[in-house]
Amino acid sequence: MQNADGLTDRLDRPLRDLRVSVTDRCNFRCVYCMPKEVFDKNYRFLPKAELLSYEEILRVVQAAASLGVQKIRLTGGEPLVRRDLEVLVSGIRNVTGITDLSMTTNASLLTPSRAASLRDAGLQRVTVSLDAMDDETFKRVNDVGVPVQRVLDGIDAASAAGFEPVKVNMVVKKGLNEHSILPMARFFHRTRQILRFIEFMDVGNSNAWDLAHVTNSSEIAAVINAELPIQPARANYRGEVAKRWEYLDGGGEIGIISSVSDPFCGDCSRARLSATGSIYTCLFATHGYDLRPALRSSLDSSEHSNLTEQLARLWSRRADRYSETRRVSPGEGQPLTFRPKVEMSFIGG
Ligand code: GTP
Ligand code: 5AD
Ligand code: SF4
Ligand code: SF4
Repeated sequence: MQNADGLTDRLDRPLRDLRVSVTDRCNFRCVYCMPKEVFDKNYRFLPKAELLSYEEILRVVQAAASLGVQKIRLTGGEPLVRRDLEVLVSGIRNVTGITDLSMTTNASLLTPSRAASLRDAGLQRVTVSLDAMDDETFKRVNDVGVPVQRVLDGIDAASAAGFEPVKVNMVVKKGLNEHSILPMARFFHRTRQILRFIEFMDVGNSNAWDLAHVTNSSEIAAVINAELPIQPARANYRGEVAKRWEYLDGGGEIGIISSVSDPFCGDCSRARLSATGSIYTCLFATHGYDLRPALRSSLDSSEHSNLTEQLARLWSRRADRYSETRRVSPGEGQPLTFRPKVEMSFIGG
């Protein structure tokens, strides 16, 4: 088996990040992610018995860490709807090799005490999703009537607990919230939080994605630059998903994530673990690879290495680069975007 330094996929990309979905449930119904027409009361969310236990997740994290994974991001659905997340956080924090432990949340359940207990358990960073500054637009996006202030309170709670800077993710969908680009930029300008704009992606098959609904990164940058001048800044690390920009007046930085107009598959070192224990080697994958048989086989001494071997084998066969190949020319058959794909709420952001 290959060692941590040697494991690369077929496109020579190492395995560095594991994004862990702890639940497929969410208390929001964002129209670009879990539209109500699909995720209604008849939608069959995973029964609890099908979720990996925290112990099982931890074993996957340990195996991944032994193969070179350094960053773990907890996602959902909404990770805070799963109980006792602190137990998982403190377990992961103690895994040798994991140097960065973060969580993506809608922050609606991030009370000051929850933020503090997550911090105490060892969570290092928090990213909050927020798509508008006015209630009318934001309620249209989350579709469950949550006001902006509730998320801002969550961001404040995270800052107060020591998570500063909090990253704030705004998905920009044309016709829905692109008028909120500037209000969001103004609000977070000169704060310690880092706002990132995300191009609306064709992830999953539920969100009725259409290229016409994408405001691309150069349009986003131009809107901001017209009022608050910005210049490109250097990436913090190789393969950083967000392109960084800094305000010329010293008012901080923003990020723009251009998975549609300028894909970043070339440096993609991310694997994703579903709440049911399947590994997906791409956000746009059709199938995952079920690790449960390896996880639930008898707890003999070879079990850990069995899991590690399966992960290594999976990664070494990986050739995914969906975002770079999504466009097919007319006449080449069905565009990739209509292929069955895993839902974002199932696999996390
Ligand atoms: P940091 O560790 O803070 O640098 O996180 P990040 O910049 O990777 O950002 P985050 O994990 O918050 O991801 C932000 C958004 O980028 C996600 O919600 C997705 O929309 C998009 N994204 C992240 N990873 C991928 C990826 O591998 N492929 C594609 N196509 N989009 C991604
Ligand atoms: N396009 C881009 N980003 C998305 N997210 C969810 N659905 C999409 C989509 N279709 C992002 C959310 C959140 C994270 C969980 O994933 O904004 O930050
Ligand atoms: Fe929930 Fe996040 Fe999806 Fe919105 S984007 S429905 S908050 S998982
Ligand atoms: Fe990685 Fe797939 Fe996203 Fe490309 S589309 S960056 S391969 S997850």
